Amino acid sequence: MSTPALPDPALPDPASATSMRTHRCGDLRREQIGETVSLCGWVGRRREHGEHLAFVDLRDHSGITQCVVDNDVDVRSEYVVRITGVVRDRPAGTVNESLPTGEIEVGECTVEVLRRADPPPFPIDARADGVDENIRLQYRYLDLRRERMQRNLRIRAAVNSAVRTAMERQGFVEIETPMLVPSTPEGAREFLVPSRKEPGSFYALPQSPQLFKQLLMVAGVDRYYQMARCLRDEDLRADRQYEFMQMDMEMSFVTQDDVLDAVSESVLAAAEAATGERPPPIERITWLEAMNRFGVDKPDMRFAMELTELTDVFASTEFKAFAGAGSIKGIRVPGGADQYGRNQLDKLTDRAKSLGAKGLVWLKVTDGGFDSPVAKFLSDAEAADVRTRLEAETGDLLLVVADEWATTCEVLGTLRNDLGRPPVHEGPYRYVWVVEFPLFVGIDRDSGRPKPGHHPFTTPHPDDVDKIESDPMAVRSIAYDLVLNGWELGSGSIRIHEPELQRRVFTALGISEDEAARKFGFFLNPFDYGAPPHGGFAFGLDRLVAILAGEENIREVIAFPKTQSGADPMTNSPVSADPKQLSELGLKVLPPAT
Ligand code: AMO
Ligand code: AMP
Repeated sequence: MSTPALPDPALPDPASATSMRTHRCGDLRREQIGETVSLCGWVGRRREHGEHLAFVDLRDHSGITQCVVDNDVDVRSEYVVRITGVVRDRPAGTVNESLPTGEIEVGECTVEVLRRADPPPFPIDARADGVDENIRLQYRYLDLRRERMQRNLRIRAAVNSAVRTAMERQGFVEIETPMLVPSTPEGAREFLVPSRKEPGSFYALPQSPQLFKQLLMVAGVDRYYQMARCLRDEDLRADRQYEFMQMDMEMSFVTQDDVLDAVSESVLAAAEAATGERPPPIERITWLEAMNRFGVDKPDMRFAMELTELTDVFASTEFKAFAGAGSIKGIRVPGGADQYGRNQLDKLTDRAKSLGAKGLVWLKVTDGGFDSPVAKFLSDAEAADVRTRLEAETGDLLLVVADEWATTCEVLGTLRNDLGRPPVHEGPYRYVWVVEFPLFVGIDRDSGRPKPGHHPFTTPHPDDVDKIESDPMAVRSIAYDLVLNGWELGSGSIRIHEPELQRRVFTALGISEDEAARKFGFFLNPFDYGAPPHGGFAFGLDRLVAILAGEENIREVIAFPKTQSGADPMTNSPVSADPKQLSELGLKVLPPAT
């Protein structure tokens, strides 16, 4: 994979000069030899050189320059200094190839200390990668001084800028929507904000601008976008923060193709800005194909190990575990026979069971057949067909699951990822649109009704509208996800704009007319004044930036993130509230439930 490159302004960059400095610390090359320059920055490493001199690495966001100073100058780690001196060749044999400024140094230096500094709690370089993350976050302003973090911040800025430009070039208008909003039906837990004027009443912080952007379509905006801050009170993970940024968009008088094209343009432009390379056009697969081939709705297409259909092979099998199963599929782990011993195979079987499978059949491919406890139950024809279907070769490991279709897919899809998936940022970037998600997913335990796949305003596929009442689980929708290397980057849909269709979907979801009026009235009533057909999308900027920056965790590309447990060690939040403030809000804090 190409190393993501930073936008590298031509050197010397006139914008880097200020009244305090002539260049940035990463700017100087042999061309400046003989010039008197002034640099400002932080003192990195200092090495004494003989009796009279010391080498000081002066660092700013752009890089490091070696300065030769008198060794009686009192500068220490992280002192903020201004150094004026003359650029000169480094003595033969001391050139540092790994540093862009490694051919020169600044000599005859005058050093002005702008601010002394306490010794930092960790070294301001790559060694801090190994420091406890809580410490890194407690001193985030020092962590961010490091090259890796400066680079991430700049990749993020480059991505933001490219996305904005791409959206604006396509006629999208940036509009800000409110942060104090009513509850929205996005599905995650919300952050509540108490109202002082109306004690006992609450705003929610927006999970997304969904409702407002659709109303902007009713308002005739035609093409809206926003770099939108969204808030969700969910358990935090590598790809999840309480606060995150969406590139949120909505457009009127469009079909799915129009939305996908507009979003693709902005994502590909962002990728190009970050990596220097524009990815090829993004391929599309249906949700059904994604499930059948990869077992998940966010397929990582960087590696093969695809699920292979075997149901028909076992149509009249004598093997009890497979007989009569709705769906039988297998995956091939190339060369896996030797890699997986009995112990690991037992663990894989346990893993499969924990995912809902009744068991896991493993077959080690030998020259003549299979090495497997179940080999004796398979007929010769079945064994031969399995081998051919999976294109198995001696030394491979085959894993087979028989169950109802969804379970078979899910179990094998998860095992495929467990066994084959590279780290998210590794290998080529593989973007894929997954289209035709089901309108409903699963049944709500309490109500016994289907649950919405995306949200209740997603339009059903026109070919499936007839099945909303008779066979709801078979209804596809015009909803689509964008996936990159197995991470969901974003979701969107064409929305329902006709009241009759909306009513039918609400009914299928078990939402009564009363409830719909109460919950969504303020949103849906305006549609009666003329809602255009419309659709949209939102992708997570943090996720896109993380992958493009080669990071495994979105925290690395957010300036001030929360820890996994939702805290900010730098500001010590969250904190308890002042009793006076609570009483103004009409709130009383109860002791934690035991
Ligand atoms: P959805 O809920 O799928 O869709 O969110 C869109 C994208 O936002 C990002 N995302 C997150 N990123 C970081 N931390 C989180 N906690 C988090 N939650 C979501 C993901 C996700 O794919 N309104 C709809 C879009 C639409 O229909 O137009 C929506 O918000 O990358
Ligand atoms: P059993 O007949 O339950 O002892 O299972 C025999 C073998 O088949 C064991 O290795 C099980 O893990 C496996 N197995 C049982 N049920 C299934 C299933 N539905 N799909 C895949 N493997 C199964």
